[in-house]
Amino acid sequence: MLAAISAFILMVSSITGPRVVSGVLSTPRNVRLTSHNMNLVLMWDSPERPARGLVYTTEFKSVSGYRVGCVNISNLECDLSRLNISISAYGTYKSRVRAQSGTESSAWMESNQITLDKDTIISFANVSLFSNGAAIEVSIKDPVFTISALRNVYHSATYNITYWKDGQREKARSNSNIQQNRVVLNDLDPSTKYCVQVQIITERNRNPSNPSAAVCESTTTEEEAPWVAAVVTFGIMAMAVALVVVAVVYRKNISHFLCPKDTLPQHFKEYLLAPPNSSIYLAMHNSHPPEEIYHQVSIIADGRTLEEGHPLEAAGRSCRKQPDTT
Ligand SMILES: *[C@@H]1O[C@H](CO)[C@@H](O)[C@H](O)[C@H]1NC(C)=O
Ligand SMILES: *[C@@H]1O[C@H](CO)[C@@H](O)[C@H](O)[C@H]1NC(C)=O
Ligand SMILES: *[C@@H]1O[C@H](CO)[C@@H](O)[C@H](O)[C@H]1NC(C)=O
Ligand SMILES: *[C@@H]1O[C@H](CO)[C@@H](O)[C@H](O)[C@H]1NC(C)=O
Repeated sequence: MLAAISAFILMVSSITGPRVVSGVLSTPRNVRLTSHNMNLVLMWDSPERPARGLVYTTEFKSVSGYRVGCVNISNLECDLSRLNISISAYGTYKSRVRAQSGTESSAWMESNQITLDKDTIISFANVSLFSNGAAIEVSIKDPVFTISALRNVYHSATYNITYWKDGQREKARSNSNIQQNRVVLNDLDPSTKYCVQVQIITERNRNPSNPSAAVCESTTTEEEAPWVAAVVTFGIMAMAVALVVVAVVYRKNISHFLCPKDTLPQHFKEYLLAPPNSSIYLAMHNSHPPEEIYHQVSIIADGRTLEEGHPLEAAGRSCRKQPDTT
């Protein structure tokens, strides 16, 4: 009896077991063509009860027939925009995938169809804030696109900048239709914390774009920021320190420059120290110094030599020239 049951189980399993493997492969499920920031990715789920060693092959098409995408891959997605194929930012695409095991293949499963610029999901902008007195500068960076760039695909894209005092979200104000990447918010109160969120508006895209996460920054007082003086002081000190460092590091070079160690070549020295043999020099050297011609002058400041008359007049004549003695 027991042997009969086990024989029956064996028989059933030998009939049904191989049939699951050798039967027609079931198709991948939940096939979807997606796009984020202008990429193009086909994703799917594995078939129910997938056979071991299952691989997938994908194809895609734009206007004409299907062309090959990823071949014999084991993961559950194919990034068509990373393949060496040209994809248009305005193209309409459709894709399909089938499972393969050994020589067997499942039927193709088609995806939805998407038009890149209309359907791609644009991630939020990257927002940085810089406070400057009672104003805040908002700097916006567009998300990076796999194909092209935001401003190339959507020429008239604008930003909607929403800002509010921290904790007063319900009183938020908005500046829309902004095309510049740098915007100054200057209707703000000084010394107050503000939060900012930016949304990209493209008009052509069907998906509501995600606003950026709120980023916050405090305004300062209106007066000139104290850091200006600090920066200037720091700059001067840095220059002084740099000069000292340069002087210390190049100390040797500087002293070398001022007091050269190099000696004159020997033959130069010999030439310079040798007795001069120029006849003019010798004549000058041996001649006696020329006689100097002068008049002898005596100054007598003695009261006895004063002549009679006005004392002042006499005093004026007290320096008298003596007759030449030579
Ligand atoms: C993909 O796998 C099939 C079946 O194993 C094989 O015939 C084919 O050559 C493979 N293709 C590539 C490109 O590896
Ligand atoms: C990509 O395709 C171009 C021509 O379409 C070819 O010259 C190039 O070698 C390819 N690069 C790779 C990595 O396959
Ligand atoms: C935003 O920009 C900053 C500075 O350029 C960078 O460090 C950061 O990774 C960016 N964040 C995102 C989400 O792109
Ligand atoms: C800008 O964003 C704010 C807050 O999300 C919203 O109330 C407002 O309608 C938006 N303006 C435009 C023109 O989209």
